[in-house]
Amino acid sequence: MQKSQDGLELPNRTLTFDQIDCEVSIEEVVGGFVPTPRFSHVSFESYRPDPKQPSQASTLQRLREYVSGIQAERGERGGLLGFLKKKTPVAIKGLYLDGGYGVGKTHLLASAYLEAPAPKAYLSFQELAYAIGAKGMAPAIEAFKPYRLICVDEFELDDVGNTMLAKTFIRGVMEGGNTHILTTSNTLPSELGQGRFNADDFKREIGIIAQSFESIRLEGEDYRHRAYGENVLSEGIYASDSAALHNAYTHYMPLKSSKLYTTFDELLKHLAAHHPIRYSRLLVPLEVVFIEGLAPFHEQIDALRFVHFIDKLYDQRVKLAVSARCTLPDLFLPEYRDKGYAKKYRRCLSRLHELISEGI
Ligand SMILES: Nc1ncnc2c1ncn2[C@@H]1O[C@H](COP(=O)(O)OP(=O)(O)O)[C@@H](O)[C@H]1O
Ligand SMILES: [Mg+2]
Repeated sequence: MQKSQDGLELPNRTLTFDQIDCEVSIEEVVGGFVPTPRFSHVSFESYRPDPKQPSQASTLQRLREYVSGIQAERGERGGLLGFLKKKTPVAIKGLYLDGGYGVGKTHLLASAYLEAPAPKAYLSFQELAYAIGAKGMAPAIEAFKPYRLICVDEFELDDVGNTMLAKTFIRGVMEGGNTHILTTSNTLPSELGQGRFNADDFKREIGIIAQSFESIRLEGEDYRHRAYGENVLSEGIYASDSAALHNAYTHYMPLKSSKLYTTFDELLKHLAAHHPIRYSRLLVPLEVVFIEGLAPFHEQIDALRFVHFIDKLYDQRVKLAVSARCTLPDLFLPEYRDKGYAKKYRRCLSRLHELISEGI
């Protein structure tokens, strides 16, 4: 603990990984069920549909209807004449939002959550899989059944086990007849090019319950490119050299919590030493992370850990500054980048792009 001139204890504003306790309970991981800090203030109003992409305005409209349908089901229209108004029950209980990266799926999902009547839950597919694993299937279904709306971000069908899990879970909670499920999934640019979306895979995988899902395709370009331009991806622009990075770190005055400086190698070692479920906890005391010397990942396992770390950093709105020995897209080698986990890598690059553009 640092001391001020008059002897008062000051919070430690500079931390190293070893000083952060990242033990985490299951309750902490699955608890909350609310949008992450990055998406806790979004709304339908702040979503700006691209006039060149008609599916954006129509999706926004459809989601608004969906949420007011849920409100109406409960007779929450209110007002003296509320009971005279014709109720519009939501025939469709499930809605599946499919599209490329950065078109605003998570933004819309969180907006729908925030507008919907309680009780409601918001979580990522990974958290859902973790919650089911930790609680057991039957108790998880019981725990989620009372929710009017469950929002699940980034539905992943690339893992057979998780797909089975999700299928059983969805069938179980929907049997109650009270629960709506709104979910998103990312489509790879190569698939978009072929006019392919995930929706077909999703419907096939969830089989019998598919008819209670409507799927919507959200078209458009990555909003991060609209907002920040493409140039951040080109060499040198995003990456300061290590001396400049260290200098920025030295002069950075944290406002709320602490700052952390790490070399790329030290970061990888630390990530390898902890279960990924703890990465969130690792970031809690931090407002900014400086990473020196990003370089291509030779081992896919390191790359995947890093992807998870960046997901958490992004969700928790921790700021990021880096120096790098390669361009952003070259961080992940073609050997594994375009294979089974291609979606994770695309998402990570899109998020890194946004984080680095936002600056510190
Ligand atoms: N049409 C839009 N209007 C306003 N902000 C948007 C829009 N589309 C995306 N964003 C913003 O761009 C970022 C990426 O969007 P996100 O919802 O994460 O995309 P996706 O989930 O489709 O990958 C977020 O910060 C989001 O708030
Ligand atoms: Mg998303």
